[in-house]
Formats: sequence, C-alpha cells, structure tokens
Amino acid sequence: MLNESETLKTLTDREIILGVTGGIAVYKAVEVLRLLIKRGCGVSVVMTPHATEFVRPLTFAALSGRNVIVKMFQNPHDMQIDHIALANRADLMCVVPATANILGKFACGIADDFLSTLFLAITCPVVIAPAMNANMYQNPAVQRNLDTLKKLGMEIVEPGEGDLACKIKGKGRLAEPETIVDFIESLLNKNTLLKDYIILISAGPTQEFLDPVRFLSNPSSGKMGYSIAKTARSMGAHVILVSGPTNLEPPQGVEFHGVRTASEMLDTIKKVIASVTHVIMTAAVACYRPKISSAKKIKKENNSMVVEFERNPDILQTLVPQYPDKIWIGFAAETDNLVENARNKMRRKNLNMIVANEVSADHYPFGAETSKVVIIDKDGKEKMLPEMTKDRIALEILKKLPKI
Ligand SMILES: Cc1cc2nc3c(=O)[nH]c(=O)nc-3n(C[C@H](O)[C@H](O)[C@H](O)COP(=O)(O)O)c2cc1C
Repeated sequence: MLNESETLKTLTDREIILGVTGGIAVYKAVEVLRLLIKRGCGVSVVMTPHATEFVRPLTFAALSGRNVIVKMFQNPHDMQIDHIALANRADLMCVVPATANILGKFACGIADDFLSTLFLAITCPVVIAPAMNANMYQNPAVQRNLDTLKKLGMEIVEPGEGDLACKIKGKGRLAEPETIVDFIESLLNKNTLLKDYIILISAGPTQEFLDPVRFLSNPSSGKMGYSIAKTARSMGAHVILVSGPTNLEPPQGVEFHGVRTASEMLDTIKKVIASVTHVIMTAAVACYRPKISSAKKIKKENNSMVVEFERNPDILQTLVPQYPDKIWIGFAAETDNLVENARNKMRRKNLNMIVANEVSADHYPFGAETSKVVIIDKDGKEKMLPEMTKDRIALEILKKLPKI
C-alpha cells in the first residue's frame, strides 16, 4: 500500500465541505478528513451540535487547520464562513456519517441548523454516506428519504453490511473511509480529462477448451481492466470493455463484450476497433490452446494423457501494424527482469506505453486489490509506483493518456 508520504495529490486545489452528523461512526469521519487532506484538498468541516457529543470539534480543527463550524450564529461577523460564502467556494460537499435525521431534513428542505441550511445553499455535487442501526436504515421513512435525495441528484455511498455498533447484524455500517474518498475523487475528476476519448480495454483471462467441460486458463481476475474501465468512464471517456470470464459486474455506462477464448477476443476487438482512439490491453490472454478441442467430453481411459498445444493468435502483434493510428498500451506481468522484459515487449510490439506488473513472492497481483507496477513510456521514461489499489493505478495510467 501507499505510505503516508507517497499519497498522490489527486485533489489538489479542490475545496470540500465535510458535514458531520451525530452517529456512532463520527470517529470514521476523522479518517475521511485525514485522507482528503492527504490527497491535497482544502476541507472545511461543519458539525451538527449532536455530532460534537461523539467527537470534539478540536480534532477536526487540528487536522483541517481551519475552524470547525457548529452553530448557525457562532460567527455572525465572519462573512468568509457564513453558509452562503462557504457554499459558493465548495467544489463538493460530503456528509459523513449521515444520520437518519439529516436525511429527513435534507429530503424535506428543513434548514434549522448550519449544516441543513448550507445544504440548501449548495450548488456543487453532494455525496451522502448514511450510517445507522439496520432497523433504522430499513425503515420505510428513511428509505423514502434516500429515494428522494437520489432523485434530487445527491450521490449516496451505500452503507455496508455486517456487525453494527448496536450489536446487531445488517445493513447500516458506514462505508469504509477509503471507499468514500475514492468515490469523491472519481466524482471530482469526472467528465473532464478524457472527454473525447474512445478507449477499448481488454480484461480478464481467456479459457482455451480441451473439451466442452475442461479448459486451460490463468488466475487473472479482471480487476485491473475493470478498474481502468470504471475510472476511464468516470473521466468522461467512451469505454468498450472486452472481457474474458470474471466474477465482476461490468462497470456502469460501459459498452461490454464478454468472450471466452483468445480467438474470440481478437475477433471481437476487430469488430469494434475502427472507431477507438486508445487500446489498453490488460487481459491475460493464453499464448497456447489445445490443438484439438474435442466436441465431446474426453473419457478417463488411460493413466496419462498427452495434449498438444498450438499458438494462439497474438492480438497486439496482429492488430498494431494494421492500426498504427491508435494509441496502444500493453501490460506485462513478469516474474523476472521486470522492467527489461517489459521494455522488450513494448519494442517488439511497437506499443506507445507499457505497464510492467511485478509478480513475486511479495507481490502477487492476480485477484488482489492492489498491485505494484512501473509505467514505461515509449521515450524511455519510467514511473515506478509503490503498491497501491488497482483503482489508483488506473488513475495514474489514464492521467498519462493526454501526454502521449
Ligand atoms: C450513542 C448514540 C449513537 C447514535 N448513532 C446513530 C447513528 O449511527 N445513526 C443515526 O442516524 N442516529 C444515531 N443516533 C441518533 C442521533 O444522534 C439523533 O437522531 C440525533 O438527533 C441526530 O442529530 P443530527 O442529525 O443533527 O446530528 C445515535 C444516538 C446515540 C445516543
């Protein structure tokens, strides 16, 4: 994972309001504030009076370096932090945790404290992370309020399921701070950088069938490709995801094509490639397939069995020469000589950029949430990233596209 000093400043120059309301999860809002500050943004914290019963404003003030606003009339002469001035400055407001009470007030337009008044004056995106007892969360009045807020365009970070502070199990636990901050980050980076891009992403493993019930495959989970697809979409790109079999849901708003074999992947890519501007090949495509794929199940007759394999078509080697106008980005998962092998692959396949993916005893990226990569440009520049989530790696790769 990233250590403190290596955190990427992906929210530099952004102004965020963090609203904190009176639930048991207030202590997690402290972590959300810390992560937001680490990512480079300015944060003004607004607490409801009930929230201050759980954690004192001093903690938020010390971390944000700003006064915390609690009361509507505490600073009648400070026009810099009245609700209108604050609303005008903000790029985004998030409410963490959001109580059942504040959901009701927001949904009805009640403005009887600073936070609910500010909510009515805000024109920027609002992210709400509810947290409460599972029975409260399932209450039809709370669900109706959430529906109303969604219809009004508010972004809801759904609570998780599990053990709650009130000793019962169910849905209502605040989403993890990192999830909330990632959500905020993708919302703020939305619809800008990659607006006119059409990006084809291949993901997942392929399956090469020996007979109808057996295949040769690899442990690729598809997570890296799906993270890139989701992030590219959130940055405004049109995304075409061509994926081998995975357990993942295709990201919202993405054009999805499911395939099984390397040949199917190549055929599908051929059908859609004409219109795309960029191709990012994260798929772990099988190099070989059984020479004969039996139409019927092979019976267990002998003690041993010899299978002859033949080469699959190499997707990059086939397509790059045919479409030199596209920007081609490859991935290289390597156990040895990481950078050197990746550089050779980039040269051999005439790619514009390659992402070298370390596979070692310490870093096994297949199926993991994190990975450790080196991004190598065609002109030889290397960017070595520390181990980080695949979503963060996706952002790092995609931020480079306009410079290629
Ligand atoms: C110990 C304790 C924990 C609470 N936790 C929650 C909670 O997690 N979610 C919630 O909606 N309300 C919770 N409440 C109830 C709220 O504090 C209460 O509804 C309050 O009016 C909320 O005010 P606010 O929304 O202005 O902060 C809790 C109350 C207590 C005493």
